[in-house]
Amino acid sequence: MPQTRVLVESSSYCSIMLFFLVFMAMLYSGLSVGVNWGTQATQQLPPDTVVKLLRDNGFKKLKLFEADERILGALIGTEIEVMLGIPNNMLQMMCEDPAAAASWVDANVTSYSYTGGVHIKYVAVGNEPFLEYYNGTYLECTLPALVNIQEALNHAGLGSKVKATIPFNADIYFSPDSNPKPSAGDFRAQLRDRTIEIIKYLFRNNAPFTVNIYPFLSLYGNKYFPFDYAFFDGTSKPVPDGDKQYTNAFDANFDTLVWALFRAGYAEMPIIVGEIGWPTDGDINANIQNAKRFNQKLLQHVLSGKGTPARKGKIDIYLFSLLDENAKSTAPGGFERHWGIFEFDGKPKYELDLLGLEEDKGLVPAEDVKYMPKRWCVLNRQANDIGDLLPDSIDYACSRSDCTALGYGSSCNHLSAEENASYAFNMYYQVNNQNDYSCDFSGLAIVTDDDPSKEDCQFPVMISYGSPLLLHSGLSDTFIRIIEGFVLFFILLN
Ligand SMILES: *[C@@H]1O[C@H](CO)[C@@H](O)[C@H](O)[C@H]1NC(C)=O
Ligand SMILES: *[C@@H]1O[C@H](CO)[C@@H](O)[C@H](O)[C@H]1NC(C)=O
Ligand SMILES: *[C@@H]1O[C@H](CO)[C@@H](O)[C@H](O)[C@H]1NC(C)=O
Repeated sequence: MPQTRVLVESSSYCSIMLFFLVFMAMLYSGLSVGVNWGTQATQQLPPDTVVKLLRDNGFKKLKLFEADERILGALIGTEIEVMLGIPNNMLQMMCEDPAAAASWVDANVTSYSYTGGVHIKYVAVGNEPFLEYYNGTYLECTLPALVNIQEALNHAGLGSKVKATIPFNADIYFSPDSNPKPSAGDFRAQLRDRTIEIIKYLFRNNAPFTVNIYPFLSLYGNKYFPFDYAFFDGTSKPVPDGDKQYTNAFDANFDTLVWALFRAGYAEMPIIVGEIGWPTDGDINANIQNAKRFNQKLLQHVLSGKGTPARKGKIDIYLFSLLDENAKSTAPGGFERHWGIFEFDGKPKYELDLLGLEEDKGLVPAEDVKYMPKRWCVLNRQANDIGDLLPDSIDYACSRSDCTALGYGSSCNHLSAEENASYAFNMYYQVNNQNDYSCDFSGLAIVTDDDPSKEDCQFPVMISYGSPLLLHSGLSDTFIRIIEGFVLFFILLN
């Protein structure tokens, strides 16, 4: 008898343990952080390499800006949960033609949604379609496009598993200057009715509200913005709001949305932060130190479950971004090409503990990356008439490659005029896959085997995966993010 009892006990102990483990696993997977993978780059790692990079680093959630069949193919058979984007330039079609929405869903979602396929969980309809920059172009079509996509998902029998949502820019909501506190948050008057219509639809459909929040842009857009308030390690001037204290811009921004949703009658609306991050170059505040400071504490904060003053619990975020993208528009600023937690070639830029435990854990680099030969294109000091042609040549090279590292406050801003020329020539040469004809510049340039890199200023050798994407081809509007009075600078008035 005693033995039987022991057996019974140990088996119920086992099932309790099992239950506990399953519970922990659920808790753990529910707490993981997502990441955005954009592909606006001249040379791109093969999708298989990037998917391995994601898995090696434990990413379980991914956001894509469009349905690229090579990428979706590489995700087949993985557990990675995907938010799949539809670019703004397809909204019109999705809005006017339910059949187009249905065929998009059929080709890009249904065909991957089999057991062992791709785990598509969300469709992101448009990207920040209500930005002022678009002059209202997408105001009319966003909701009908959302509805047509969700209905197509429903008709495909996927409606309970796959939810359509819309990633919004954070300045669709605000707090008035007269009462600049999160608790005064509301949607902007000119967008209010439309936004609430969308929220109503999302809520009824059990879909989340998605928003992109960028404390970096708040800092970038306003030289009086208190530096520490952009980060998470405290500020000497917290912002009081009733019985609450705000010590960082993220919480204040997030809670302004929480209050705006509350005012609209949707206090329980789930929120996803579709993009958040910090760039490492291209601006005085964009560097590795600040990016690590922001991202590390961000992860700790959102995964801790403490939540914000107005909403407890873990916060669902997608880091922006996985890899640097050297072909993004620099209209918002040179930093746009440097959001990656990895370089363009999958090398980690800094240590980051993705579990939010704030251990100095190294990220795992991409494996088996192929580079072009160790060759650079530099200014030929023997050339005649260097002075005359040089400015035009530099302009030409930079406008067709990426010289954002030369800008004010950036990693290569300290170069001499001649080194500037070498930098520009090399970038042009590299994005053109080291073609001989791309290192000429009327004889001003020459190929060398000596690495011209300086401490802190890298002259890169590109990876050898050329992409058909050209830098000067009109950039997709998907990635243009304009700084339009980012909300919540109320701390200034304090
Ligand atoms: C699938 O998505 C891609 C990328 O957005 C798009 O080019 C393509 O037209 C879509 N397929 C259909 C049938 O709509
Ligand atoms: C919006 O309008 C302004 C002024 O007319 C124009 O300069 C800008 O290019 C427009 N934006 C878009 C995305 O068309
Ligand atoms: C190098 O180029 C950058 C960016 O164009 C410029 O700001 C800087 O003044 C240049 N340096 C010299 C010494 O000309």
